[in-house]
Amino acid sequence: MVKKIWNKRSLIGVKDLSSEEINFLLDTATGFKDSKRLNLLPSVSLKGKRIVNLFLEPSTRTRIAFEIAAKSLNADIISIAEKSSSLTKGESLRDTARNIQALGADAIVLRHSSPGSARFLSEMIEVPVINAGDGAHEHPSQALLDIFTLREKLGTLEGKKITILGDILFSRVARSNIWGMLKLGAKVTLAGPATLVPKKMEEFGVTVSYNLESAIDGADAIMLLRIQHERQTQTHFPSLEEYSRMFGLRESGCKPSSNTLILHPGPINRGVEIDSALADSEQSVIIDQVSNGVVIRMAILYLCCSEEVKEKK
Ligand code: CP
Repeated sequence: MVKKIWNKRSLIGVKDLSSEEINFLLDTATGFKDSKRLNLLPSVSLKGKRIVNLFLEPSTRTRIAFEIAAKSLNADIISIAEKSSSLTKGESLRDTARNIQALGADAIVLRHSSPGSARFLSEMIEVPVINAGDGAHEHPSQALLDIFTLREKLGTLEGKKITILGDILFSRVARSNIWGMLKLGAKVTLAGPATLVPKKMEEFGVTVSYNLESAIDGADAIMLLRIQHERQTQTHFPSLEEYSRMFGLRESGCKPSSNTLILHPGPINRGVEIDSALADSEQSVIIDQVSNGVVIRMAILYLCCSEEVKEKK
């Protein structure tokens, strides 16, 4: 059964996953969450496995969630940041990864600013590579935890209106979520300033809106994105104040109905894409997303690294 559904060694993007693989991974995470809730140890283990977190861009949630996930499965995990590695002395990513593999790593979790870096690395080394965000390309573990949270709260994504609002153009979270949500049957709307929504997105089966009111009308969930200044080389709107006024969710302005879920991958820029009152409201599931990030990363590490799963491939 496992062999038939999950045959990935590395996790590069949600685009590569079938709806069966997504649901299987979410079900695996549900199993881990149930064990946690019942105060039981997970029924499977990665004891003896060494995972290396190679984070070459800043991270709080993803890096720590992978660390806690690995430790929860009894694996050893070592986190490396760019500044403390020999990448600063000119070593290439390929050489760095090959050395980490030679030191005995069983998997590498990579965050990198270049789109395609995770796939490149997966073709250069033998051990599994887990993409923890590659430029504006994909952030699969984030999308999977977002979809897991939506499935928990809504029961299913099938037929649900989900609006992704903000800086779509530079967002790897948006790309991974678009693939995953469409595969699970959601009706996805992308909204934001025209300069921050990629052209021709309708070809992929999404709706595009440049008007906040219509984008959030009737939405079952809204996923907010921050403006990703670190990837922008020019300004895409006149000012943050104007962006906030036209596309921010504001307590005193345009806001979703009280039964619409509010998601955000973090980090939040309070007062820009969302007011604090809404970010911390009952309809916000932002902290649930963060907590669910651990069991999703447990499922990813288990499915990509376990000998039990490998034997069945
Ligand atoms: N959502 C997310 O990727 O957060 P971090 O950058 O803190 O890992």
